[in-house]
Amino acid sequence: MKIVAIVGSPRGAKGATGALTKIVLQGAESLGATCEMIVIRGQEVKPCKACDTCHKVGSCPQKDSFRTIKESVDAADGLILATPNYISHVSAQLKAFFDRCCGVVHCQGFEGKYGAAVVTSGGGDEAPIAEYMNRFLAVTGAVPVGSVWATMGQVQGYDFPAEIKEEAHSLGMRLVKAWSAKEITPEYQEITLGFRERMRALMLWRKAEWPYEYEYWKACRGLSA
Ligand SMILES: Cc1cc2nc3c(=O)[nH]c(=O)nc-3n(C[C@H](O)[C@H](O)[C@H](O)COP(=O)(O)O)c2cc1C
Repeated sequence: MKIVAIVGSPRGAKGATGALTKIVLQGAESLGATCEMIVIRGQEVKPCKACDTCHKVGSCPQKDSFRTIKESVDAADGLILATPNYISHVSAQLKAFFDRCCGVVHCQGFEGKYGAAVVTSGGGDEAPIAEYMNRFLAVTGAVPVGSVWATMGQVQGYDFPAEIKEEAHSLGMRLVKAWSAKEITPEYQEITLGFRERMRALMLWRKAEWPYEYEYWKACRGLSA
């Protein structure tokens, strides 16, 4: 299994989020996965311009690092999303990546991949951020398997307490096991399958404006009309 972890912290791999993500990757590697950490810092992922070109022709016209990061994700079986808590949400860097994936969402382009979420914060509120990232995974068609987080105000340096280390390591292992078993999680059942029907309806509504996506749905997802 090949896993890509995208770390959205401006501190890159050297921050708390990178440190926690490394433990998740060690868990995955212990079961034979090959892992790559992609740090958005130092690269450029511009915000979406809402030009709708991805929906019309299938690719983004902006020339920046989004394309290469997306290629790495496309080539992977697993996708870990990692962010610091920035005012109760993901970092702007990671949000820009999510928004640039609008065409992926419409075409359910990460279907078949398995994913997980990693969050660190100064003082708390990690759960809704992890839930949001797992929702992102689910609406791209991927199967979210879980999350781990750490409140850094309660940690000495980056020396995470044993239970958080254990949770992070287990999450990496769980990702590999779920992918190997082609497991369908309740989140996937609940979110992805319903969301896919919304996308099907959207394609029929926008078929004139978004020819690439409409034709994709007809050719690959059995859309009729
Ligand atoms: C712009 C900014 C906003 C932040 N907002 C929050 C917040 O709302 N709640 C919180 O608990 N911590 C907040 N923090 C603290 C970070 O989430 C925390 O230090 C995190 O562990 C940093 O991870 P990193 O070292 O990987 O960048 C914020 C930090 C910054 C720089």
